[in-house]
Amino acid sequence: MGGKLLLDASHGAAAAPLSKVATSGLHGEDSPYFAGWKAYDENPYDAVSNPGGVIQMGLAENQVSFDLLEGYLRDHPEAAGCGGGAAGSGMASFRDNALFQDYHGLKAFRKAMASFMEKIRGGKARFDPDRIVLTAGATAANELLTFILANPGDALLIPTPYYPGFDRDLRWRTGVNIVPVHCDSANGFQVTAAALQAAYEEAEAAGMRVRAVLLTNPSNPLGTTVKRSALEGVLDFVIRKNIHLISDEIYSGSVFAAPDLVSVAELVESRGAGVAGRVHIVYSLSKDLGLPGFRVGVVYSYNDAVVTAARRMSSFTLVSSQTQKALAAMLADDAFAAAYIRTNRERLRARHDYIVAGLARAGVPCLRGNAGLFVWMDMRRLLGEATVAGELRLWDRMLREVKLNISPGSSCHCSEPGWFRVCFANMSLDTLDVALARMSRFMDRWNKERAMSTQQELH
Ligand SMILES: Cc1ncc(COP(=O)(O)O)c(C=O)c1O
Repeated sequence: MGGKLLLDASHGAAAAPLSKVATSGLHGEDSPYFAGWKAYDENPYDAVSNPGGVIQMGLAENQVSFDLLEGYLRDHPEAAGCGGGAAGSGMASFRDNALFQDYHGLKAFRKAMASFMEKIRGGKARFDPDRIVLTAGATAANELLTFILANPGDALLIPTPYYPGFDRDLRWRTGVNIVPVHCDSANGFQVTAAALQAAYEEAEAAGMRVRAVLLTNPSNPLGTTVKRSALEGVLDFVIRKNIHLISDEIYSGSVFAAPDLVSVAELVESRGAGVAGRVHIVYSLSKDLGLPGFRVGVVYSYNDAVVTAARRMSSFTLVSSQTQKALAAMLADDAFAAAYIRTNRERLRARHDYIVAGLARAGVPCLRGNAGLFVWMDMRRLLGEATVAGELRLWDRMLREVKLNISPGSSCHCSEPGWFRVCFANMSLDTLDVALARMSRFMDRWNKERAMSTQQELH
């Protein structure tokens, strides 16, 4: 290749302009949420080679049950198409995977997904494989639904705190706005009709047309499930306003303690046709199965027109045939799926209880959680001033001094400064112990600093 071709001329004075989407800052990747990831990438903790490095607690990844998946693949090498059995080995599956696949996805895989989604809801809801539209992860599923339900300039209402990636996934390329529905700790951040109404009025006052509410249930970053009464309230609200409801249930298989998940799918079944056409569920295998690299997501809609549009649009974001085949057999294996779901929940619960106890010993409380891969840590009493600036100063100290990358609540649009999301399932127990020890030492230092400054004030 000629040397000239390697030049990066994108900043040249005469560079031809790029599109508004390409150059807009709406992707949000300059927020502290992503800045923390960068700091980790530059100095990652390793027990042997870099024991003073940053521990990544800002990544909602589930590595606690990987051995179960690996065990399955060892016992069923044909399932992964990785050789062994005659059916899956070599040329035959290569040819099959390589040839044209239309946007419907493989029937066997959609059936397996539907049955898995039923299993993680304890059989309390039914899923029709023909309503399953496959996408490259929940990221694509959420964007695709936004494209279908809203026009540029319209608004989605999202209860806070919410997953920081939504700022990119729902706004950036669609031109749709997010209007936060402010929730607070007084009721465990459960969404209320009053908060929904206030956000609706705010959107209208700004000249935006509200098209949908987007709930995340269980919530990222709270690690809690939405109460049945709150969910009923949201359904009443979307009916009253004649808008849609997207329920991102990506953590639905990761509920490890009471109360059980109430999926919107259950309410649709009990309420029937009056509400079904406005409800759309997002799912993915990134969290419950810990497979974000496989990029498998789902749009499940009860609305035929939405299913059709989503299927057409999924052309841009298909799941490869190889991936579908590799996972179909595993998900359709009832005994394996049931055992996986049960064991994964037990392990998440153990991890969760372990970190909550460790933080409590250090003097840091958490919101009571029952789901997900993270805790919502309450450091409000540590803030010098109860502002976003105060929160970000503490976050910076945690990153630079304590060498823990955690996500500040403000990156999740939390209305109360001082909350942080701390992930616990993306590391070994040994690394978690190191993180807890660092936290404990930091709290000792902080307590001493505070005692000293109180003494100085008294003199
Ligand atoms: C609530 C929520 N939705 C969507 C996503 C994106 O998931 P995926 O990897 O399937 O694109 C995440 C990932 O963290 C998430 O937490």
